[in-house]
Amino acid sequence: MKLFIDSADVDEIRTVFSWGLLDGVTTNPTLIAKQNKNPEELLKQISKVADLPVLAEPVSTDYEGIIKESNKLTRISKNIVAKIAMTMEGVRAVSTLSKKGIKTALTLIFSPAQAILAAKAGADWICPFVGRLDDAGERGLDLVKNIVQIYKIHNYKTKVLVVSVRNSDHISFSALYGADAVSVPFKVIQQMSQHSLTDAGIKKFLEDWSKSGETK
Ligand code: E4P
Repeated sequence: MKLFIDSADVDEIRTVFSWGLLDGVTTNPTLIAKQNKNPEELLKQISKVADLPVLAEPVSTDYEGIIKESNKLTRISKNIVAKIAMTMEGVRAVSTLSKKGIKTALTLIFSPAQAILAAKAGADWICPFVGRLDDAGERGLDLVKNIVQIYKIHNYKTKVLVVSVRNSDHISFSALYGADAVSVPFKVIQQMSQHSLTDAGIKKFLEDWSKSGETK
């Protein structure tokens, strides 16, 4: 399973890349706005960190506007993927763009029906939002499990990139259910390495080692 970072913070992205863990980047208008930088310049910087997919979102909601913005975004760098909101206008735009060989994702996916539309339109990626479904009282991971099963049954080529990830369970169950990738905020990536029993184990090993009189 690929690990993307869900961030528009270039330092965070560079750090995870330096750890040898990075397979891609997802951004959205909120994450971009948080950086208080010119969006085009920021995306240029992010795209240069590594030759990996960088998902960037047009904000237009009409077909023509989505097409125009997606063309502009993907001209910034060859590794930029147009990450388009799941509406029928967005589906139409993905259908047009994918036929021209432009990489696309359909995002804000909250149901299997939306995922089926995205695959039919030829999206390279879909982004199911597990955390926001949990926030709404549903089990977001069930959506991941169902989409992966539907895509396997019908041999759809669209890749499942799980987003709105809040914790390590979202990551491990996405892997268990066969998602192609997860996109994870920087702080949750750091949490992946942590477990209380690991900390206790290291502490015990060091205490026992120091009793042996050996130096480190
Ligand atoms: C992908 O970039 C999504 O927009 C992002 O993961 C949403 O995360 P949130 O639900 O925590 O805002």
